[in-house]
Amino acid sequence: MYRSRIMGIGMYVPSRVVTNHDLSTKMETSHEWIVERTGIEERRWVSEGETGTDLATKASREAIERAGLQPQDIDLIIYATLSPDFMFPGTAVFVQRALGLKEIPCLDIRQQCTGFIYGLSIADAYIRSGVFKTILMIGSEVHSTGLDVSTAGRDITVLFGDGAGAVVIGRATDDKHMILSTHIHADGSEAEILWTEYPASARNPRISAEAMAERKHYPSMNGKKVFKHAVTRMPAAIMEGMMANGIKSIDEIDMVIPHQANLRINQMVGKMIGMPEHKMHNNIMKYGNTTAASIPICAHEAVQLGKIKPGDLVCLVAFGAGLTWGSAFVRW
Ligand code: UT7
Repeated sequence: MYRSRIMGIGMYVPSRVVTNHDLSTKMETSHEWIVERTGIEERRWVSEGETGTDLATKASREAIERAGLQPQDIDLIIYATLSPDFMFPGTAVFVQRALGLKEIPCLDIRQQCTGFIYGLSIADAYIRSGVFKTILMIGSEVHSTGLDVSTAGRDITVLFGDGAGAVVIGRATDDKHMILSTHIHADGSEAEILWTEYPASARNPRISAEAMAERKHYPSMNGKKVFKHAVTRMPAAIMEGMMANGIKSIDEIDMVIPHQANLRINQMVGKMIGMPEHKMHNNIMKYGNTTAASIPICAHEAVQLGKIKPGDLVCLVAFGAGLTWGSAFVRW
């Protein structure tokens, strides 16, 4: 049986910076409120015509280059998103085309903020079984074209940013660089506490003037409930991974890269597991919540800053809509 490793990582965010002040000119909010509750100072939103495929393709090219490979070496693309470019087909095929690839399989997955962890687990299983050798795993999101920028949507709109991150996952050649474990979970009993109801095939018609007048084509969230679940599930997922890998002390972990939903959530998780602040990297301040893209965007920055070095023991952990959550432990 083979084992897998992360061979290269890339990221791309749109150049358009949207500050908290910019948002306060469109809705009743303030820089102070947003920073105090979430830590977010600014986020990137796409410009006219820029798509999730565009962001993903740029992030992917960097990941492939850093892996020392060519696009032609990729034999599967996994694309995690909650904001596909179109209802169908999935977005991975557009990235395949943009990278100049032909015929390799393309798989879109829909696990929201946990999408990247789910994608890693799928890639890891395919590599372990020998079915595929080199997998491009992407998290890419364009939220901004689907957010309510009026005061009615302020609780959600201030949180989200656009961006993409990608990794190339290949066969491990030694035990110093390898994906050690992935653990994924879901609980659909409260699926509607964070969702977008329209347009939907479960509704006939899929979208209507009435639904739009009620703003049901925008995401809605019970923020307090989501917050409580996040600060329970993320520590549990970290502990689960530690136990599976025989990690007896939190000190053995070199860096935690949590999903970037809210700085306060991550600070609370850090305290709960006894992780010193310098061993948990966050960059939500600059990018907001980019859902499936947040972990690779954050890990990429940590690598660039030298906070993650080859061979380090890194814990990736996420929680999101569905509800879904999970962790991955990686020897970088
Ligand atoms: O990846 C998963 C995605 N989501 C999350 O992880 C989010 C988890 N939840 C949260 O991060 C927090 O619940 C929020 C940051 C979203 C909200 O913080 P909160 O402390 O739960 O605030 P709240 O919803 O209870 O709202 C408090 C007040 C309300 O006003 P009243 O009713 O007290 O008069 C809101 O209307 O703040 C108001 N409010 C705002 N004010 C200014 C809500 N959004 C805003 C805003 N600016 N953007």
